[in-house]
Amino acid sequence: MANEASTKTESVALDNDRKEMFKKSEHIAFYRRHKQKPGVHYCVSLESLALTEKGASLEVFEIKSQVHLLLQVRVCRESAIRVTIDEIHPVKMRYRVPDVLIEEPVYEQLRVERKGEGSVTLSWGLGQHQVRIQGTPFSLDVLCAKEVITTLNPNSRMLFETLQDPPRHDSTLNQEDPSGLWQERFGQFVDVKANGPSSVGMDFCLHGFNHVYGIPEHADRLRLKDTSGGEPYRLYNLDVFGYRTDSRLGLYGAVPLLLAHKPDRTLGLFWLNASETLVDVHYHPKDNEEDVAAPVKRSRAPIQTDVHWISESGVIDCFILAGPTPSQVLSQYAQLTGYQAFPPLWSLGYHQCRWNYEDEADVKSVDAGFDQHAIPYDVIWLDIEHTDGKRYFTWDSERFPSPVALQQHLARRKRKMVVISDPHIKVDPDWPLYCEARDGDHFVKVKDGGVYTGSCWPGDSNYLDFSCPQTRSWYARCYSLNKYKGSTDSLFVWNDMNEPSVFYGPEQTMPKSVVHRGGWEHRDLHNLYGFYQHMATVDGLMTRAGGTERPFVLTRSFFAGSQRLGAVWTGDTEATWDHLKCCIPMLLSLSLAAIAFCGADVGGFAGDPDPELLVRWYQAGALQPFFRGHADKRTKRREPWLFGEAVTARIRSAVQRRYCLLPYWYTLFHQAHTAALPPMRPLWLEFPGEQSAFSVDHEYIIGNALLACPVTAPGVKEVMVFLPGIEELWYDIDSAQAFSGDRNLAHPVTLDTVPVFQRGGTVVPRREGAGSCSADYQKLPLCLTVALDAKGCAEGMLYEDDGHSFHYRDRKTFSSHRFLMTPGSLACSRLSEDDTFVSGSSVQSVVVLGMRRKPSAVTAHTSGIQVPLTFRYREDQHLLALGGLDLGMGRDWEIRMQ
Ligand code: NOJ
Repeated sequence: MANEASTKTESVALDNDRKEMFKKSEHIAFYRRHKQKPGVHYCVSLESLALTEKGASLEVFEIKSQVHLLLQVRVCRESAIRVTIDEIHPVKMRYRVPDVLIEEPVYEQLRVERKGEGSVTLSWGLGQHQVRIQGTPFSLDVLCAKEVITTLNPNSRMLFETLQDPPRHDSTLNQEDPSGLWQERFGQFVDVKANGPSSVGMDFCLHGFNHVYGIPEHADRLRLKDTSGGEPYRLYNLDVFGYRTDSRLGLYGAVPLLLAHKPDRTLGLFWLNASETLVDVHYHPKDNEEDVAAPVKRSRAPIQTDVHWISESGVIDCFILAGPTPSQVLSQYAQLTGYQAFPPLWSLGYHQCRWNYEDEADVKSVDAGFDQHAIPYDVIWLDIEHTDGKRYFTWDSERFPSPVALQQHLARRKRKMVVISDPHIKVDPDWPLYCEARDGDHFVKVKDGGVYTGSCWPGDSNYLDFSCPQTRSWYARCYSLNKYKGSTDSLFVWNDMNEPSVFYGPEQTMPKSVVHRGGWEHRDLHNLYGFYQHMATVDGLMTRAGGTERPFVLTRSFFAGSQRLGAVWTGDTEATWDHLKCCIPMLLSLSLAAIAFCGADVGGFAGDPDPELLVRWYQAGALQPFFRGHADKRTKRREPWLFGEAVTARIRSAVQRRYCLLPYWYTLFHQAHTAALPPMRPLWLEFPGEQSAFSVDHEYIIGNALLACPVTAPGVKEVMVFLPGIEELWYDIDSAQAFSGDRNLAHPVTLDTVPVFQRGGTVVPRREGAGSCSADYQKLPLCLTVALDAKGCAEGMLYEDDGHSFHYRDRKTFSSHRFLMTPGSLACSRLSEDDTFVSGSSVQSVVVLGMRRKPSAVTAHTSGIQVPLTFRYREDQHLLALGGLDLGMGRDWEIRMQ
């Protein structure tokens, strides 16, 4: 009891600390200024319209202040409309986010469609879309087939604070500045703003939309909440240990991409700004939060969602992605910011991490533990304690005297190692790497020009200026094998604390007045810091491998575009059921924002999970894109075999199932890489016309075939699973039982089971057998599960290549196969003729679910040879099983069922 009480007191104290450490919107001056609606009105001079081959530009002016701005309207690839607003004559340049767009888009030639009555209408291409600009007051409509899909500045909330010279005699600076124009206090911290007020904001009306998603990272539901009377969604990268769920406060990363969806259209808003950003969402009509899954109630008032974006600095630069389908929006976004990096196959296996594995003997014994307990895994991770005094790129010579031999030991078992590398560099004039960084001028500065010193794990630290290309190149070289002593080519990297985290700094991060190369204030690019470190690390691993091997780098902080660099995880969760549950919407939001290779610490980072929670977390994690067990150093050891055989067996089964499913995951990641479809999908992405699927976030679909509903509560005997699709059939993968769609199903579970249903009409490839890591599983034969739809048809894909190099890209060494089931026939054919990978895989067995009739004979046909097959048919299950097939993927084949 005494213990319980003291834990409670501690956690109240921690909560209070957290409350004081992080701002709420009321503490944010620029947000207050925008909300106080200062009565500014912008007009556009339609006479100023100038059309060039790159788009249209017009002058915007504010009536009272006579401030003049430039509005640019450009259109990339038919349906991504870019609207940019900047000052015409700023006292100094404003920050425009570099390096996030993969290239300067190619713009369409615009033409004037109509002019008059205070507005001008522009169109392009076939004229399907239009932009209509209203002069007084300024507003901008985007139309598709004559229907207005979104309006910018519908309520005249736009505000663009122009840069000013500092007030003379510093008088304002010395006085109280309640509007926070030139300085702002938060607790003990005073933020002095070099450029004074510099914020920008714009509101959007999304016509006909009642569901919006995206803008990660928040520990919140999938469908964004109405923020009226509450906190806005905050995009400001912060290190928040043990964050609260059900919260819109900023976490480690930010992707300013919001998706709006209604049955016949999806729309994207990409707000390209890297400074602190707040987003308010207002639904009209408002709904009862408890009842979000219910169809939108009929109401006379038009359905719409108002979204208000407010950023502390930079310019207004937004993209309206007109879709109209969800996958088109995702692809329009990927064409701007890049596709998911294609991960090496091994990185889709299981990763074992802990803060910390103590020494080489500990690593070897954990590694051996996996083999002893027949649990496959691919990677073991080392946290900060592996270094010599938190000097990254070094090793603690007592605990890790032979890192190369250790990596070789793992590599012999085809396993890898990942080590942590944070962005802070210990201030240590006796450390050559520190001296190089200092002498090469690679650190961020304070505003009078000295190097900025903050504190992190090593104590006093300087922070690398990753926004500077020279610093990124220097940092990338630090990963070369000859420079990074003790590293080998089977060592990969984890970037942590890169929000950046600064102990004792304002909100545990870097002061906004810190200066980056080019004179930019940290304020302008805060949300890019982690993205840039990730970029430099990836570059380092690419260069190390001569550009031939796919890198693997996990990052905690991220921004739009981080998907093209690698993986992201959700940071310091707690070992609670709430956190386990919250991972699903968090990972879905990341996936929608293109960060498809994402995961959460299995077991929860802080605190000790009980065995049931641990098992449930393994079961959930095995069905999520990035699958890593990790734990805080204050927690008890929790390797899978430490809780008794029953727990080990359940974890083993979850992990083995993941490994068997790797061919499917790998194929899905290839789709993410080439077609921008995330492997982990909210139901509405697959069922865009079904209102009842729009708010579901306790389950999801892996690819288009497997609906997963992890158990996220203790003591559960039954889970309510929503099966979408009025015409769909869903097959329980454990029992093969079929259920029709468009229903809530009370599905019984035991501690050994997780509800997973295969959608009728799909084919899922799996490996059959067991092994110790992904390389072993690659050698196992394939089994296809063919789940028939109501018409007796199904279709699926298998993508294969060497699993680790870029040869799939530069030499076309890959193979893609299509499985097509029509009544009476299952055919496998190669999708493209010019790919060159010789697949060693062969299909050994096929299970057909939903086979209503026992076939009289089954034959295999390959290269003109016909072979009769033996088969097993289960009348009660409508299941046909074919075994001992040995159908090589090197040739096309067909199975005929008479
Ligand atoms: C914070 C990270 O979120 C956590 O995963 C890591 O173990 C610690 N830093 C120590 O490096």
